[in-house]
Amino acid sequence: MTYARITGTGSYLPEKVLTNKDLEKLMDTNDEWIRDRTGIKRRHIAADGETSSDMAVNAAKKAMEMAGIGPDDIGLIIVGTTTPDKIFPSTACIVQRKLGIKGCGAYDVQAVCSGFMFALDAAYRNIMTGGSKVALVIGTETLSRITNWKDRTTAILFGDGAGAVVLEASDEQGIISTHIHADGSMEELLHVPQGVSQGFDITRAGGAYISMNGNAVFRNAVGKLGSVARETLAGNGYTEEDLDWLVPHQANLRIILAAAKKLNLPMERVIVTVDEHANTSAASVPLALDIAVRDGRIKRGELLLLAAFGGGFTWSSALLRY
Ligand code: UT7
Repeated sequence: MTYARITGTGSYLPEKVLTNKDLEKLMDTNDEWIRDRTGIKRRHIAADGETSSDMAVNAAKKAMEMAGIGPDDIGLIIVGTTTPDKIFPSTACIVQRKLGIKGCGAYDVQAVCSGFMFALDAAYRNIMTGGSKVALVIGTETLSRITNWKDRTTAILFGDGAGAVVLEASDEQGIISTHIHADGSMEELLHVPQGVSQGFDITRAGGAYISMNGNAVFRNAVGKLGSVARETLAGNGYTEEDLDWLVPHQANLRIILAAAKKLNLPMERVIVTVDEHANTSAASVPLALDIAVRDGRIKRGELLLLAAFGGGFTWSSALLRY
């Protein structure tokens, strides 16, 4: 039996750090409110000229090093991002060029904060059907470019960064199942209200910035993370007791606490890194995964449930043996 297994993880956070105290100088907010309501302490901000593909390449190189593979081994690159370098070509094609690879399939997935998970779903199915043997799956975001730094209801929440995994065909069990969902009827609760085919006009009300109904997004995120986790466990004959780790989308500590409670999962078995990098959208799950692998919390053979929720709305999960 062939499986698709994660053989390497990597992540990258830009050098520049913006703390809650720094934000106090930019807008009417304070460190205590941000920590209480979100659990976030700091976020990283891409340098001028540093792009989503630059960060993706940094994360990818670390994942490739861990997996012990070189650029020529890669048969597929999928990048989840809401903040591509250019309208086209895809950020995945730019990553491919920067890694010095030619010929393998490379494309982007746009599923906002579920972007990495949707990309993982596609890569998993590609490997399982023999399309490729080694896939590079990346989530990368420069959300600071679509953040309105005058809007305290959104600016405190987001940061830049990238996370990557190498997924390989293997005799050992890896991904057990992936699940993807969307509901476009709630588009306006979380969106950037501008785009290519509507025509850009950044002077229009709202600008090309993230716009969000925080309370509604919060409720939906808790509900959907809980339901997709239950669907995934039950679909594979597992319960929450079998899980070693939940690796949830890192948007807000309170969302993670509420989702874990719904699942009856003690926080000792939940990976939380949002305090260090805020919400990095498509990068958040692979970033949290890599941090926890490298600090020794997640070990080989453990059962992991990755889960994400984001604009669209989109929600998604992957159950895997690490
Ligand atoms: O990947 C998904 C992306 N989005 C999310 O995950 C966001 C989900 N939503 C949230 O995380 C929360 O809804 C927020 C953190 C955005 C807001 O937390 P909340 O507990 O829902 O606060 P609230 O919006 O109900 O606001 C409470 C109060 C308000 O003041 P009043 O009306 O009670 O006087 C706000 O004006 O807090 C005020 N407030 C702030 N105060 C200081 C809102 N933003 C801030 C701020 N600093 N940054």
